[in-house]
Amino acid sequence: MKEKIGVLISEDKVNARIAEMAQALDKEYEGKTVHMIGILKGSVFFMCELTRRMKTPVTLDFMSVSSYGNGTSSSGIVKLSKDLDESIEGKDVIIVEDILDSGRTLSYLVEMLGSRKPASIKVITLLDKPERRVIPVDLYMTGFTIPDRFVVGYGLDCAQKYRNLPYIGVIEQ
Ligand code: IMP
Ligand code: MG
Repeated sequence: MKEKIGVLISEDKVNARIAEMAQALDKEYEGKTVHMIGILKGSVFFMCELTRRMKTPVTLDFMSVSSYGNGTSSSGIVKLSKDLDESIEGKDVIIVEDILDSGRTLSYLVEMLGSRKPASIKVITLLDKPERRVIPVDLYMTGFTIPDRFVVGYGLDCAQKYRNLPYIGVIEQ
């Protein structure tokens, strides 16, 4: 069956918001280097668009976590499947996520990475679904707050499909 994808947030709107976020980060981190940690794979598109609009020097690293379960819900157990390549000790770290849903993934990551002695640690996400929160997460910056819908595109997948859509879409059966 071929799914139909509706547009929730257009390409222009996403790109304009990411440009604003880049400017705000440049202001906040003036004179510093930001160590960006992307959570694979969903955050990659957002991270590229954001960092190439920033003037602040950035270094990048990636980690991969999986929460058991598939499709559109997770079991709540988070497993680290790829750790960082470099130490974050003394660095100004930003964790970059595609979407904050229950909060399980990010609360686990903030606690784990926070214990590795970074100079600072902040979390930014392209999308936030606050209605679904189970564990609170302190967000520094959010692209868009969205309703409780399952979204795809701009890095977000449904069973690994649709990550490369240039907008945020919703699956309409
Ligand atoms: P959390 O741990 O429940 O906050 O889940 C965060 C992860 O669930 C995200 O990094 C996504 O991989 C996935 N996720 C949550 N909501 C969506 C969605 O609407 N579309 C695609 N992936 C989602
Ligand atoms: Mg993810």
